[in-house]
Amino acid sequence: MISIAIDGPAGAGKSTISRLAAKKLGYIYVDTGALYRAVGLKFSLLGYDASLDCDISAILSETSVDIRFVNGEQRVFLDGEDVSDNIRTPAASMMASAVSARREVREFLLEMQRRLARENNVVMDGRDIGTVVLPGASVKIYLTASAEERAGRRWRELAEKGEKITLKEVYDDIVKRDYNDMHRDIAPLKKAEDAVLADTTECTLEESVELVLKIVGERTGEN
Ligand code: DC
Repeated sequence: MISIAIDGPAGAGKSTISRLAAKKLGYIYVDTGALYRAVGLKFSLLGYDASLDCDISAILSETSVDIRFVNGEQRVFLDGEDVSDNIRTPAASMMASAVSARREVREFLLEMQRRLARENNVVMDGRDIGTVVLPGASVKIYLTASAEERAGRRWRELAEKGEKITLKEVYDDIVKRDYNDMHRDIAPLKKAEDAVLADTTECTLEESVELVLKIVGERTGEN
């Protein structure tokens, strides 16, 4: 099986770029952030905030998260319910970042991610795919862009969906999440030594997809 690991900070375009690249390659696209978002939603629904002042393991032992593919699109299920559309709010992003810093949560989600890559050719995006989840991935890419550019892209996406949020709020959110994701003790966001750095600050979406496909093609012979 071929696995393409795509890591990088929030708003670098990982999910859109990975989805399009996977489509072109005929691989499954796995958005691992959605798993952390679903777990975050569980804790929110139980009334906990980002301080997660609770017995995390006990709650996880009564939680099921799984991924199903409907018409080739990933859907995420929390306790049997499709929550794919409820996990995209700024509040859900912050909760996802909080739960993702907890060892119990990372262990809870690890095997599922590895199994998907054992059973399918995948483009998998996240923060620790090349460093922890799939250290033997066929290709590793660290996708990034400047914080200003990432905030602008994310803000336009949210504005299109009608979210009332300012560019400054989105920028501050991104800087804070970058900090959390890069400074947590376990599986922090960082470029794997053998990952190719792809900076898309100056690239259009099409150019970014082409760049990823070029890197993949050079390393696997697929294009
Ligand atoms: O990619 P995203 O914005 O949907 O991710 C949501 C949060 O989950 C993000 O703050 C970091 C975390 N995450 C992680 O720690 N490891 C992953 N493989 C994917 C996401």
